[in-house]
Amino acid sequence: EKAHIGVTGLATMGRNLARNFARRGHRVAVHNRRAERTDNLIEHFSGEGDFVPTYSLSELVQALERPRRLVIMVKAGPPTDEVVDELAPLLDSGDVLVDAGNAHFEDTRRRQAALAERGLHFVGSGVSGGEEGALEGPSIMPGGSQQAYGELEPFLSGIAADVDGTPCVAHIGPDGAGHFVKMVHNGIEYSDMQLIGEAYDLLRHAVGKEPAEIAEIFRRWNTGRLDSYLIEITAEVLAHTDAHTGKPFVDVVLDQAEQKGTGRWTVQGALELGSPVSGIAEAVFARSLSGHADLREASRGLPGPTGTRLASTDIDGFVDDIEQALYASKIVAYAQGFNQIQAGSAEYGWNVDLGSVATIWRGGCIIRAKFLDRIRAAYESDPQLPTLLTDRSFQRALNEAQDPWRRVVSRATSMGIPVPGFSTSLAYYDALRAKRLPAALVQAQRDYFGAHTYRRADIDGVFHTEWSDDRSEYEV
Ligand code: 6PG
Repeated sequence: EKAHIGVTGLATMGRNLARNFARRGHRVAVHNRRAERTDNLIEHFSGEGDFVPTYSLSELVQALERPRRLVIMVKAGPPTDEVVDELAPLLDSGDVLVDAGNAHFEDTRRRQAALAERGLHFVGSGVSGGEEGALEGPSIMPGGSQQAYGELEPFLSGIAADVDGTPCVAHIGPDGAGHFVKMVHNGIEYSDMQLIGEAYDLLRHAVGKEPAEIAEIFRRWNTGRLDSYLIEITAEVLAHTDAHTGKPFVDVVLDQAEQKGTGRWTVQGALELGSPVSGIAEAVFARSLSGHADLREASRGLPGPTGTRLASTDIDGFVDDIEQALYASKIVAYAQGFNQIQAGSAEYGWNVDLGSVATIWRGGCIIRAKFLDRIRAAYESDPQLPTLLTDRSFQRALNEAQDPWRRVVSRATSMGIPVPGFSTSLAYYDALRAKRLPAALVQAQRDYFGAHTYRRADIDGVFHTEWSDDRSEYEV
């Protein structure tokens, strides 16, 4: 009997996806370039389901029923191309190849187009949830053709996370749409983590709480509107004590954040699209700044503000203010991310349903949160919503957060505690609601030094002023 689905690439993610399929009753053909991993999977997990070990890509392909469904879970970039190039000649028209790695969506577009010419379906799929998600139920964001999705749907909805009976998987759109949406998911993940980091920093250094106390505060927040996986694990991390030193674990970790690149891609893509994701950009830059040990070392002696301690009577109120600032900034982070998806969707003609993206992010993925239910509701009641900020329920929250949010940013600033995420979110919010922006002056400057022209707010047309002459204006 042939296998229903195949997986090649059996590092942790691939192995766990294969086990997840097998646990759901599918017969799963497995392959890895180094045979030990295949043998290891069979040795340890064959009791979980029906696996077919294979030792070459052609053996893997032979083991599958047709049309074949085959998942690739190898490193993004050249390793993925190698596997795709080797597999393509072995497959038959109508077969479906799924790339479940964190590929760049432009690579996915290229691969999809090349394989389509051979009659093969290529599905670039975002998969979020880390190792545990892959095994227990990830959030799955497949792109590619509708037909290919039809072939995969019964398999994917079985292994995906489930929220209130709804599986966390949906067809995102053609070609690179799935990987694009996964990329923005990761950008939002960066933003969310940065904002949580800033909240922690303020609780620690403005309020003066210890990590274990801060863990309790996050635990409490996690029972309210901030309820999310990232807040939950933050509490766990902060409550953890280092076994070697007995110190809070967070104090022994080197404070230089790394990145594999998806956050950077989000910002690069946003720059190309002209999509202002300032919160995500700050989060990426904050990681990169933290990694500049030399620059930080050289700057350590620079002066800071003098004496601005929080009065003890202000402490409880300020903790609540931080919760408000965190929630408001989080709304901005998601608003920016969803607008970038909207912009990408328009640019590439993907027709991405934002409500459905919010729906499948409610479970399984790293940014899963109660909050996403509100986003889903916002887009369901108005699919054309220009920004989440104007949704009625978010507007109410932003309204309530106004003073606390500003108090947090100004207090942090006056104490010299960096809050790039909180402050850029607030600046974005204020810029959007401003009646007039100093962009008018920038346009005038551009016209002055480079005759770059400008438009007027009162009369249609494109104009230039003769700055170096008699300053008369003419229409160009
Ligand atoms: C997920 C995660 C996953 C990966 C992060 C880590 O959704 O499951 O986002 O894809 O663990 O991208 O990224 P960095 O190494 O860039 O922090």
